[in-house]
Amino acid sequence: MKTVTVNASKKYDVTIGAGLLENAGSVIKNYCRGGKVFTVSDANVFPLYGKALKESVEKQGLEFHEFVFAAGEESKNINVFSEIVENMCGAGLTRGDVAVALGGGVTGDITGFAAATYRRGIPFVQIPTSLLADVDSSVGGKTAIDLANGKNQVGAFWQPSAVICDTDTLKTLPEEEYENGCAEIIKYGMLGDRKLFEALAATPVKNDYENVITRCVEMKRDVVEADEFESGERMVLNLGHTFGHSIEKLSGYTIPHGRAVAIGMNIITKAAVELGFAPKGVDGRLAEVLKKYSLPLETDFSAKDMVKAAVGDKKTVGGSITLVVPTDIGKCILKKVPVEELERFALAGGLK
Ligand SMILES: NC(=O)c1ccc[n+]([C@@H]2O[C@H](COP(=O)([O-])OP(=O)(O)OC[C@H]3O[C@@H](n4cnc5c(N)ncnc54)[C@H](O)[C@@H]3O)[C@@H](O)[C@H]2O)c1
Repeated sequence: MKTVTVNASKKYDVTIGAGLLENAGSVIKNYCRGGKVFTVSDANVFPLYGKALKESVEKQGLEFHEFVFAAGEESKNINVFSEIVENMCGAGLTRGDVAVALGGGVTGDITGFAAATYRRGIPFVQIPTSLLADVDSSVGGKTAIDLANGKNQVGAFWQPSAVICDTDTLKTLPEEEYENGCAEIIKYGMLGDRKLFEALAATPVKNDYENVITRCVEMKRDVVEADEFESGERMVLNLGHTFGHSIEKLSGYTIPHGRAVAIGMNIITKAAVELGFAPKGVDGRLAEVLKKYSLPLETDFSAKDMVKAAVGDKKTVGGSITLVVPTDIGKCILKKVPVEELERFALAGGLK
């Protein structure tokens, strides 16, 4: 087992290893003066891991409550949020009790937002079960729900009290979700750790979960500690996300986040080479590793549509956008560009 301590506005431990779910109750107990544990999970994950969590919680003499919603991004909305907080209230949860997110990033985001707002904030513990949630969404305190007009438009910064990454839960993760998580892991290597990047090229992530997740969490910790509220440096985590978000949006969210980020990384890295920010060959090396994880590289959406989707309702004249531009494998810079210049990057990145 590995432990990474995050020292943000709240100090908490992220534990990573096999078999941790069994002892989750003893971790949760540390934050639960009131004796009630309110677990939120989705309909895929709860039948797999709900019983083990319940037993572990009850073994500590705590009262277990559950709320299970239909799996998928479509559930990360205000109606499900409303049901969660109504159920918290119905269960008589106080500020001395604990909410637990058992699941992927959707569960973590909506539970975190419910915990941030119910009774003006109660403690919550993240038990991520998807690779993406292990390496990204469960750490750092960004919580949110989607609106009909856009993803993650309502949310709060609310740090968890603990994060428990039980790598055994990844055994049941569908292959496509594994690959989506790998896209974010490749992103970490690409933006800040050449050694990690080369390790991913040499050994499949699934052969070394504990070390790979730990390294990504350490990198996320460093960024979060430096810029918890995303006023600058934290933006490096958005490598591949500007064009990635456009792809998600233009596809009506039928292309999953991880795949969209893979294509977005490929576009911006090609552009970085073409425009002289990165040496020749960096784009080819990234493409090789993305392909190794069965991730896509290209999109048919036009440069114009992609830029329009990225800029959204922002002023198109005089506005600017911060791009994360790779300068080598394991290195990147933040570059503020006028929105008029974004199309130049899109075209240099191979879009038509
Ligand atoms: N808060 C943040 O900092 C942050 C960062 C990145 C992404 N996100 C958010 O995370 C979400 C995406 O997360 P995700 O990819 O984990 O989505 P998800 O929670 O929908 O999980 C993906 C699918 O895998 C299933 N699943 C999860 N764990 C499983 C397991 N162990 N066994 C079997 N099935 C399992 C889920 O039921 C779901 O069908 C998006 O909403 C995104 O906006 C948030």
